[in-house]
Amino acid sequence: MHVCAAAQSDHAGAPCPRVSPAGRGPEDEPESLRPVLPLPRSPPPVNVDALIRLALVGGLLAAVPLTWWLLSQRGQPPARRLAALTALTLFLTLDLLAFGVFTRLSDSGLGCPDWPGCYGLASPVGAQAHIAQAEAAQPDGPVTWAKAWIEMVHRYLAMAVGLLILIGAVAAWRHRRALPHSPGWAALTLVWVVVQGLFGKYTVTLKLYPAIVTLHLLGALVLLGLLALQHMSYRQALAPPPAMHPQTWRRLAGVGLGLLTVQVALGGWVSTNYAVLACQGFPACNGSFWPSMAWSQGFSPLRPLGHAQDGGLLAFEALVAIHWTHRLFAMLVLGCLGVLAWRLWRQPVERRWGQALAGLLALQLVTGVSNVVLSWPLAAALVHSVGAALLFTLLVALLAGEAWARHAPAPGAPQPGGRRRSMAVMSSSPMRASALTAGPRSGPRKA
Ligand code: HEM
Repeated sequence: MHVCAAAQSDHAGAPCPRVSPAGRGPEDEPESLRPVLPLPRSPPPVNVDALIRLALVGGLLAAVPLTWWLLSQRGQPPARRLAALTALTLFLTLDLLAFGVFTRLSDSGLGCPDWPGCYGLASPVGAQAHIAQAEAAQPDGPVTWAKAWIEMVHRYLAMAVGLLILIGAVAAWRHRRALPHSPGWAALTLVWVVVQGLFGKYTVTLKLYPAIVTLHLLGALVLLGLLALQHMSYRQALAPPPAMHPQTWRRLAGVGLGLLTVQVALGGWVSTNYAVLACQGFPACNGSFWPSMAWSQGFSPLRPLGHAQDGGLLAFEALVAIHWTHRLFAMLVLGCLGVLAWRLWRQPVERRWGQALAGLLALQLVTGVSNVVLSWPLAAALVHSVGAALLFTLLVALLAGEAWARHAPAPGAPQPGGRRRSMAVMSSSPMRASALTAGPRSGPRKA
């Protein structure tokens, strides 16, 4: 039984529509909770053969942006080439996140019930017979031809992004003497994309376990943050922007980033627990500003989808607690980041940041409310997730840009005291400085 429907049986009359107007909402039973057909054979922990084939498909996909990058950046200095590569990877990672959200929203998360392949194979074409068998047994079940493709396209895109990150890490290591920061950042990004892949694996093999799916979403944000951080370092080194006035906003931006991260985790918890329809109406929830809620059950992290920690069904009040907390916390986040946007807007140099931030906050509010009052249309849910990712990236970029600028030595000036070596490894050596902007053939190793 669906978590929402399950709660209804315990709490008759509780508002919890079974089908959304978009026809995409919960029905009698969540597909993710229905038994998935057993795999034809017990698979090894990691099917290396399927992994290699997947990497080949990812490589083909990555070849297009890589070719563009190589051709457009030919003859450019390393920092400029890497700035372009991180921007490209950032853009594709955002697309990957959007496709991942679409995978979840279209109930395709278990479209292929194993990992990394689909029934051990690199594409649904090879697994056609298994998929047809599963679909015949459960026409609306987790495995259908369309869902298998959606799931596999997400994995192909993830592979392509992973390969771009690998190439970025290799390039950063090759040009490490000419970089404005440590190549360790690129290496960390590479490690993190592997961790994300593992979260992806456990999302499937643990059957959409809410804590894992939420961590998978947060992990995607960490990846975006790492890429944004490196990109801002390159930009700062290539063309330092006019001086900002961080004393008016730095602390607020740091607090705002922390609050936003919590809000994203809360939002992920709403969607991974399918609690979106538990609170009807806006601004109140089911006609009350303090509805009946089961906090401890709703926020116990170690439980499978739709179930409480003791194995029983999740109470409707638990879903209400999850949903209502996200909405209440949104007020704090919108308030804090709204003040930040206003402060940035008032400064001529930072105005664009303020405008972008204000625009994204408005988008979050509109799409968040649409999720509730329009009963969760796909477009609103998708844009709401991408908006959250953009907000996170923007705040990291703002803070990182300011931090890199703060740690960059002024021309001819001594290093500022108290510099944090983990953040900046910008050298004051004229050789390294020239390597930033010089062509690829004039790096410091040559000198
Ligand atoms: C700064 C403000 C906000 C941020 C950063 C934010 C972020 C998020 C995130 C990251 C998700 C999870 C998306 C996913 O897993 O794909 C989410 C889900 C959701 N949010 Fe927000 N949110 C904000 C404000 C709001 C507001 C104001 C409302 C309603 C009034 C709202 C309602 C919802 C609902 C209903 C969901 C579940 C959607 C689904 O299951 O697909 N959010 N939010």
